[in-house]
Amino acid sequence: MADFEHVFDAPPPGAAADWTIPQGWDAYTAAEHQTWVTLYERQMKILPGFACDQFMRGLDALDLHGGGIPDFAKMNSALNRLTGWTVVAVPGLVPDDVFFDHLANRRFPAGQFIRKPDQLDYIQEPDVFHDVFGHVPMLSDPVFADYMQAYGQGGARALGLGQLQNLARLYWYTVEFGLMQTAEGLRIYGAGIVSSKTESDFSLNDPSPNRLGFDLERVMKTLYRIDDFQQVYFVIDSLDQLLAETQQDFGPIYERLKGADDLPIETVLPTDRVFTRGTQAYAHAGGRFAKSSAA
Ligand code: PHE
Ligand code: CO
Repeated sequence: MADFEHVFDAPPPGAAADWTIPQGWDAYTAAEHQTWVTLYERQMKILPGFACDQFMRGLDALDLHGGGIPDFAKMNSALNRLTGWTVVAVPGLVPDDVFFDHLANRRFPAGQFIRKPDQLDYIQEPDVFHDVFGHVPMLSDPVFADYMQAYGQGGARALGLGQLQNLARLYWYTVEFGLMQTAEGLRIYGAGIVSSKTESDFSLNDPSPNRLGFDLERVMKTLYRIDDFQQVYFVIDSLDQLLAETQQDFGPIYERLKGADDLPIETVLPTDRVFTRGTQAYAHAGGRFAKSSAA
């Protein structure tokens, strides 16, 4: 991924060898807490009926309704009791091997800083709002908690095999931008969606993107974009399905993928389970940066 603000080659001054830093909760300013509150209140107007039950229950269970940036120490005592996960503070994005090692040990690295007031709608590097509000509620679900740990273990393996690109797509289309089928209709579980006001609505309701049934190998072949709303979302039947499908050995899949072409982002295959065949109108009009878009 390109152009992030704080990517370090080695742990920056003050960070431990595993790149963690103290959260320093007492040092957040009133204005920084207010940024959290503004973002939080905006999302809570939208998410009931949009986010999956597991996410909404996670907010309750971790008591993330309080006014301001959560104190990780307090949040962690609840999270740890539920699923054995711990949130640790980091200065920004960390190297892949460090990230995978944290996940494999049920530690979720969260950016310590919060975005500036002029970045409420868009920030390229994940901050504490995206990382905590977006990711941590799902970590209170036991099945998702196991999936994330397995992903960390699989990441270390993929790194050794030179297969990170394919595995990263799985993360993107599940952990960040996943949708789930429920008895009440499609719901969001992806952190990149639930922490975004505009994409929460777009992902579920806009006629533009394709919405396709989750297929592990297909997802691992599919290109993605980091600069705008997704053009395709993949829909899981349940978290159990996601965990079960990823518990197979990816070795043979990686072998097949070495000889396979990447799938362009707009592709709909005859074998796809199609929830929505998107018009792609939003992307074709130039997306977020088009004059015609009101985002
Ligand atoms: N089963 C994968 C492997 O064999 C590991 C993995 C699990 C990857 C869950 C991602 C998510 O490499
Ligand atoms: Co994220």
